[in-house]
Amino acid sequence: MDTAHEERMTAARLPGDTIVAVLYEQHARIRDQFDAVTATEGADRSAAFDTLRELIATHQAAEDVVLRTVTDKLLPAGLTRASTDEEESLARELADLERTDVRGPEFLPRLRLLEEAFELHAAHEESDEFPAVLAELSAQEQEELGRWMKRAGRIAPTRPHPALAGHPRTEAVVAPFAALYDQARDRLAEAHGKTDA
Ligand SMILES: [Fe+2]
Ligand SMILES: [Fe+2]
Repeated sequence: MDTAHEERMTAARLPGDTIVAVLYEQHARIRDQFDAVTATEGADRSAAFDTLRELIATHQAAEDVVLRTVTDKLLPAGLTRASTDEEESLARELADLERTDVRGPEFLPRLRLLEEAFELHAAHEESDEFPAVLAELSAQEQEELGRWMKRAGRIAPTRPHPALAGHPRTEAVVAPFAALYDQARDRLAEAHGKTDA
């Protein structure tokens, strides 16, 4: 059984749409998307990589904004700091990778390094942060945080932008990872406002 499948099984055993269930689902989805990038070529690989960047940006923003507000209080500072450092490192590697030609010989080896870094990081979160949330937060709190994250996902803009339909992809039309991350944070902030309303 592969890790993505195990994560989906774990998510399925948790109450639907609770924060940890959503995060496990996102980890599984990101693992699958790494496979999709590897399995494709040319324009298809480029599109699959864009999806991967968006998934990681959305997930990372959700962890920074929603998860860490909780785990910063529950866990020793060193543990969440390590997680944040790992995410910053992933973001840097991703930014480097998006300047690498998906058709070039360097792309797949570097993608594999990024995937390994993601796997290690996800394992840390699943062994340290997720159990703390499950043990310390009430069912209602876990549901509220999960709904907040799901709401941010639902209001995500669809790609490609209509104005770009039919145009060949160029570097100029695809937002860099940092911009995708900022957009995801904005969506979370907006979703939180709606949740409060
Ligand atoms: Fe993370
Ligand atoms: Fe994560």
